[in-house]
Amino acid sequence: MDATHTLREEHQVILRVLDAFEAALGQALDARRVTTAVFAPFLEFFRGFADRCHHGKEEDRLFPCLNRCGMPCDHGPIFVMLEEHRQGRAHVRAMLEQLASADAGDAAAVESVLRHGFGFLDLLRNHIQKEDGVLFNLADQLVQGEQLASLAADYRQVEQQPEFVETYARCRAIADELTKRSP
Ligand SMILES: [Fe+2]
Ligand SMILES: [Fe+2]
Repeated sequence: MDATHTLREEHQVILRVLDAFEAALGQALDARRVTTAVFAPFLEFFRGFADRCHHGKEEDRLFPCLNRCGMPCDHGPIFVMLEEHRQGRAHVRAMLEQLASADAGDAAAVESVLRHGFGFLDLLRNHIQKEDGVLFNLADQLVQGEQLASLAADYRQVEQQPEFVETYARCRAIADELTKRSP
């Protein structure tokens, strides 16, 4: 057992959905057409799975645990990760706000959804690379013994909350649907 196993597995789900999102963005860019039918499920997944479930676990459980183990929150890796979560939320919020107008053919809204979409894609891929390659390795070394047992219990507690169970199951089904056609 280590401190980040489940989070690394969740990254793989998110990365597969990001590959499908990249294809959807490419098609939308070529056609200059953004539809709710295509984009809404991605945004639902990013909000529910990537943010509420996954980033929630990082922000509410892993990062405070790392902080108790001596890693600062007001600068360094945790600070950067929190800032990137915030930027990701802003991209998703902007896409949601513009989606109906983009679907109706408003050129500025189409442009905005595409810009925020590609921005979000780059941000989240880089973010996951930093967590998998740097922060999570530090976490696996730093969190040991009682701290590790307590973190594992914390994760289990989050994962049993009814809202988490519902959102996780719904968003995993969306992910399966979105990645069905991916190799
Ligand atoms: Fe993160
Ligand atoms: Fe993450």
